[in-house]
Amino acid sequence: MTTDRRRGDIDRAVHVLRSGGLIGLPTETVYGLGADASNEAAVRRIFAVKGRPADHPLIVHIGHAAALDVWADAPSLAARRLAEACWPGPLTLLVPKSSSVLDVVTGGRATVGVRVPSHPMALAVLRAFAGGVAAPSANRFGKVSPTTAAHVLADLGDDIDFVLDGGPCDIGVESTIVDCSVEPPQILRPGGVSAARVHAVIAGAVGEPDGPSRASGMLPSHYAPTCGIEVVTSLTDGKATMARLDAQPGRRELIDLSIDSNAAARDLYGILRDADRRGVDILVVVEPADDGIGAAVRDRLRKAAAPRV
Ligand code: TXA
Ligand code: MG
Repeated sequence: MTTDRRRGDIDRAVHVLRSGGLIGLPTETVYGLGADASNEAAVRRIFAVKGRPADHPLIVHIGHAAALDVWADAPSLAARRLAEACWPGPLTLLVPKSSSVLDVVTGGRATVGVRVPSHPMALAVLRAFAGGVAAPSANRFGKVSPTTAAHVLADLGDDIDFVLDGGPCDIGVESTIVDCSVEPPQILRPGGVSAARVHAVIAGAVGEPDGPSRASGMLPSHYAPTCGIEVVTSLTDGKATMARLDAQPGRRELIDLSIDSNAAARDLYGILRDADRRGVDILVVVEPADDGIGAAVRDRLRKAAAPRV
């Protein structure tokens, strides 16, 4: 893509946001469905298009870490340290919301999720827009997240005003969510920033999530393709599972994601989408190691494999 074309696309995305429209926004994790976070009608349209319940809050994307104070009310030291160390990047901080944040964005909660994405086109849009962009992943609620502009167009094409094509997402699974509104902070969703990194930056305790889920991505079934998913821990188990399934009707395939965790994360949602497109009934998936981003892939696979609600 030429620089001029890219510039024109970024200007158009900003124009759509200012007009109260919806954009497909490329980020380093997955594509977002973005609207001006200070425009109530525009944010309501996100929920309508996604088919998302109103009590599932949205992440506000901003162009500079310094803008955290516009959205947050007295963020904790842990939040400030994480923002300083990991932004721009695949990390969402839950912080007490400032009084100006619309209830429609937070589902009426006292906290707001904020992140500075690192994708250069997302940053260019956010910095030119100079406001917050509320954006969930650009898929229908409960379904597989999009990692290319083509995925967004296939899912939401008719309902969205402009899709900014930033190429395939580098990371491929959603941001790590750290709840910094509680002490000690809790990792609510594993993602592109590893738990080890969060621990190292906070240099203090990190708690385990407790009580009812506070992030919808923590529902037991989420990120779900149409095909069934069976998760196994080794290629040997995968082959045994395939042999067992031989007795049953239907089309099945074995995918080994244990070789390279980064590639597994990058390719995961494309693999699930492709399996559906080709009419696969059961996908047997060898999961990656439980390290770094492998933990995020394992989390998404477990939710994709969970009984559908
Ligand atoms: O990587 C990402 O985080 C992508 C890209 C587009 O930035 N966004 C994304 O958004 O994954 P979404 O809406 O699909 O997932 C955000 C999760 C949801 O489970 C939501 O419930 C939770 O974050 N969340 C957002 N704000 C929250 C809040 N104030 N309290 C609790 N959970 C919150
Ligand atoms: Mg999502």
